[in-house]
Amino acid sequence: MRTKPSVLVARRIFPDIVQRLREHFEVEEPADDEPLPQPELIRRLQGKAGLFATGTELINATLLQACPDLRAVCLMTVGYNNVDVAACAAAGVVVTNAPDVLTETTADFGFALLLAAARRVTEAEHYLRAGRWRQWNIDLLAGADVHGSTLGVLGMGRIGQAIARRAALGFGMQVLYHNRSRLAPEVEAPLRAQWVSKTELLRRADHLIIVVPYSPQAHHLIAAPELALMKPGATLVNIARGGVVDDAALAQALATGRLAAAGLDVFEGEPQLNPALLALSNVVLTPHIASASLPTRRAMCNLAVDNLIAALTGSQVLTPLTPQTP
Ligand code: DGY
Repeated sequence: MRTKPSVLVARRIFPDIVQRLREHFEVEEPADDEPLPQPELIRRLQGKAGLFATGTELINATLLQACPDLRAVCLMTVGYNNVDVAACAAAGVVVTNAPDVLTETTADFGFALLLAAARRVTEAEHYLRAGRWRQWNIDLLAGADVHGSTLGVLGMGRIGQAIARRAALGFGMQVLYHNRSRLAPEVEAPLRAQWVSKTELLRRADHLIIVVPYSPQAHHLIAAPELALMKPGATLVNIARGGVVDDAALAQALATGRLAAAGLDVFEGEPQLNPALLALSNVVLTPHIASASLPTRRAMCNLAVDNLIAALTGSQVLTPLTPQTP
């Protein structure tokens, strides 16, 4: 009888997804739900042909050298800044991520953070729960309008476009965007979105949503000089990756009131947070859950499983990453 290839599941996932994996592979599940430090990951990967990975495992040349049996790393996330894709290609290891399946859910959440920050939703709830609500006031927790305002989208990939669609068609917003490359006119037109330079984007947006993938070039793409260009009283939302925004500079801009509010789902050095952010009431903070609806998390897992099956049976994987993937 042919033995099944062995795969390691890096983090706890849904039991029926593990069951699906077991139909094709010998599966090692994690003992607990803690991120695996690289030495432990390397130890567990010995003899394994595949890794079901998340955004928390570091896959680099050191690991690849120490795991000669590894043939496929299939991520259930769309972000892949934890993986050295070039090193995987050089080692002949297939890498895949999970795009598309999370686009709409993540765009929904971007909007949730935008609305919550601009309309001070969590601040209002904290105020009420603290027993501070005594009476109606003309400007009690009054915020900014979202409808009819100007939205700046930094990064116009799939998620950026889904946000732009919601903004233009649902909220009557004017949508400006900045991206390395301009969208084709037939993609831009239904989104009613206009390409502008990064400086113009920062100057004109009432609300800025950041959706660029993390790369060393994107580190602190939004720092003190960029924040200084933004409209006084603007709102900033980051659902991209920690490190794209300089959190210390952002906290400063929020503390001085230069920016009215922010909504952040990702942080530099997460799950640690810059303590200055925790001290502010005008920032909505969520623990990296933009894609976390149950159907979407399941779809992300299933795509990773489909990719593992394809990779380890010599078929074409569905969503490959190559060193050239933009
Ligand atoms: C992703 O898929 O990259 C999301 O950030 C979930 O971690």
